[in-house]
Amino acid sequence: VRRLVLFAALFATATALGGESKSKSKAPEATAPAAATPAANPAAGTTPTPDAIAAYREAEMMAIAKTFKAMSMISKGEVLRPQGEFIGHAEALHNLSLDLVSQYPAGTAHGEAKSEASPAIWTDAAGFAAAATAFETATAQVLAAAKISDNEAVKTGMGAIGQSCGGCHEKFRLED
Ligand code: HEC
Repeated sequence: VRRLVLFAALFATATALGGESKSKSKAPEATAPAAATPAANPAAGTTPTPDAIAAYREAEMMAIAKTFKAMSMISKGEVLRPQGEFIGHAEALHNLSLDLVSQYPAGTAHGEAKSEASPAIWTDAAGFAAAATAFETATAQVLAAAKISDNEAVKTGMGAIGQSCGGCHEKFRLED
């Protein structure tokens, strides 16, 4: 669902941008058929504050942490829940893992915003992107394993996710 919403937002942006450049374009025959008017993003045209950007990604991190916790409880056998529920969590976690890097625009580090984001995120952007990709890959593996009920692969993948959290935090999150 999140992907669909994101897609809709991207589509809306692309439509808006296309609309703008179209008015400057000298090729009226290139006019695309009118798309259904998408709901406007209330933040469009505004510049979110660094604190809002940090608070948003912290909210997502809490969702990531809680979803991962619920998955851990199931995969360790602490609770007995339907397989479909685990798959639902795995899907949610994978969606939350996507595009983390874009949540870190310049000017939102610790000291610039109410944030624990280390300046290393920007000085070692490639390392940060790799850490985000490791997380994304591990969540995809767990989701795929859960869908075929491969419990051993789920356990291994859960370990890999845990390591990806820690690996990223170690380098890129300042904890006091
Ligand atoms: C690619 C890097 C990366 C990965 C992967 C990652 N985190 Fe984070 N996490 C961060 C950064 C950076 C912050 C600090 C964000 C800020 O304060 O602006 C953070 C903050 C947090 C917070 C604190 C949120 C708050 O309210 O301040 C929690 C909890 C957390 N992460 C849990 C997790 C868990 C659990 C995982 C894995 C399932 C995970 N993170 C994966 C980078 C990552």
